[in-house]
Amino acid sequence: GITRHYQLDINLQNVTRLCHTKSMVTANGQFPGPRIVAREGDNLLIRVVNHVQNNISIHWHGIRQLRSGWADGPAYITQCPIQTGQSYVYNYTIVGQRGTLWWHAHISWLRSTLYGPLIILPKRGVPYPFAKPYKEIPIIFGEWFNADTEAIINQALQTGGGPNVSDAYTLNGLSGPLYNCSAKDTFKLKVKPGKTYLLRLINAALNDELFFSIANHTLKIVEVDAVYVKPFDTEILLITPGQTTNVLLQTKPNFPNATFLMTARPYATGQGTFDNSTVEGILEYESPSNSIHSSIKKLPLFKPTLPALNDTAFAATFTSKLRSLANAQFLANVPQNVDKKFFFTVGLGTNPCPINQTCQGPSNTTMFSASVNNVSFTMPTTAILQSHFFGQSNGVYTPDFPTTPIVPFNYTGNPPNNTMVSVELVLQDTSILGAESHPLHLHGFNFYVVGQGFGNYDPNKDPAKFNLVDPVERNTVGVPSGGWVAIRFLADNPGVWFMHCHLEVHTSWGLKMAWLVLDGKLPNQNLLPPPADLPKC
Ligand code: C2O
Repeated sequence: GITRHYQLDINLQNVTRLCHTKSMVTANGQFPGPRIVAREGDNLLIRVVNHVQNNISIHWHGIRQLRSGWADGPAYITQCPIQTGQSYVYNYTIVGQRGTLWWHAHISWLRSTLYGPLIILPKRGVPYPFAKPYKEIPIIFGEWFNADTEAIINQALQTGGGPNVSDAYTLNGLSGPLYNCSAKDTFKLKVKPGKTYLLRLINAALNDELFFSIANHTLKIVEVDAVYVKPFDTEILLITPGQTTNVLLQTKPNFPNATFLMTARPYATGQGTFDNSTVEGILEYESPSNSIHSSIKKLPLFKPTLPALNDTAFAATFTSKLRSLANAQFLANVPQNVDKKFFFTVGLGTNPCPINQTCQGPSNTTMFSASVNNVSFTMPTTAILQSHFFGQSNGVYTPDFPTTPIVPFNYTGNPPNNTMVSVELVLQDTSILGAESHPLHLHGFNFYVVGQGFGNYDPNKDPAKFNLVDPVERNTVGVPSGGWVAIRFLADNPGVWFMHCHLEVHTSWGLKMAWLVLDGKLPNQNLLPPPADLPKC
C-alpha cells in the first residue's frame, strides 16, 4: 500500500435546506463531507484541523484500527477531543478490508452535519467478486434539522424525549420534493441504459433505520459493512444507522421514457417521537443524443412501495438473507468455539429505575434512560484508552460492570495458546418500554451474526441453531425489536473499544459501553504507543 494524505478543516458553513439557513459545522465547507478514498493496505494520514468553537473528534466507522486504537476517534473513549485551534493526525493502515465505510464526528451530536464516505478499493489488480461496474456512486442517507444540533441534543437530554425529530431525511444532503421549499434540493442519479452501477449506500441518519427502494428496479446486494456477501436480489432494503450496503443496480436495456423515484423512509418500532416522512430522489435516464424523446410527451412516474413503518417481519426476513460470501478467496473465519460468553440486555427504561435494576446517568424522574445490562454509561472526563495505557485509574467509572445479569457466567473451553480470545455476545432487547430495535455498533472489530430470534434468548436451545458456516460479518447489527441477536468475534485487537446503539438519542441516554481488550503476549499483539500529537483533555 501507499500513504495517502488528507486534510479535513472543520469550519462553520452556511447551508440552506427547506428555506432555512443555518451555520453548521462542516469539513472543508462541504455537506455532506468530502469523500475519502483509499485502497486496502494503504496507510491514511488524515489531519483534522479544528477551526470552530466546538470540541471535535472524528471516527472512521468500521475501520478495524488493528493496534491503532488512538486513531479510532470516539471522544473520551480513545482520545480527548481536538480543541479549538488544535489539530490531530489520524494515522491508520487499512488491513484486510475493502468496501464502503464512512467517517463521522464522534462527539455530542455533531455527526448530524459532519460525515462523509470512506471508500476502500481492493488492492491494485484484485477484482471485485462481481463484474466491474460501469460507475460507482455513494449515496448517504442523513437527517436535516432546522434547529441547531446542540439545541436538539439538549432537548433530548433534558426532556428525555422529543423533540429530537428531524425536519427531513436527505439523500447526499438533499431533502427532495416532498418537503416544503425543497424541490430544488433533489438528488438525481443520472444513468445510461444497459449499464451496471455500484451504489454505495451509507446510513448516516442520527436516529432512524431506513427502508430504501428504487421504483421498477431490482437491487443486488453484494456487500455490507465492507464485507462481501452472497449476492441476492431485492426490491427493498433495510439499513440501520451506522450500516453500509453496496448494491448493484442494472439499468434497463433501452431508454425508458419514464421517471423513476427512489425513496427512503423509517422502519420504527419504538414509542418515541421520530420523523415519519419520506425523502425522494430521482433515477434519471440520459436520453439518447440522437433521439427526439419528447419533453412534450408526458412521462409516466413510477414510485416504489415501501413496507409499513413497523414491519418487523420484513426486517427479520431481510436480515436473515445476509450471508457472508465464504468462498475460497474470502473465507469466513467464524469462531467455532467460544472462550468467553457474555449476555447483555439493551434497552430503554425510565428513571427512577425499575425494581431490581441499577440505573445511572441522568436522574430526572420522568425522563428516559437507556442501558446495557441496566447500567447507563456516563462519559468520563478523560479518555479511557489513555487511562488504560498509562495505568491511570481516573478513566474507569464502572469497574463493577455486570457481565451477566440473567444467565450465570459460563466459561467453557481452555484458554488458547495465544491470547486471542473468541467472544460470544448475546444482545437482548429488554422491551421494557415496548419492543424496539437497536442498531448496536462495535468499534475495532467485525463480528459474525450467528443467530437471531424473537422473545427471550434461550441459552439451552438457541445455540443449536447458530449459523457457524456463512454468517454475515459486519460492524453494526440491529438487535431485533422484541428479540435477541448473537454475535461472535475474535478479540484480536488490543485497546478500548466503544460499543453503542447507533441511534444517537439512545447513545445520549446511556446505551453505550466500552470493551477493554488486553495486549497479547507477543510484541506484535500490543497496542502501539500513542502519537505525540494525541489531544489532551
Ligand atoms: Cu458510527 Cu461509535 O460510531
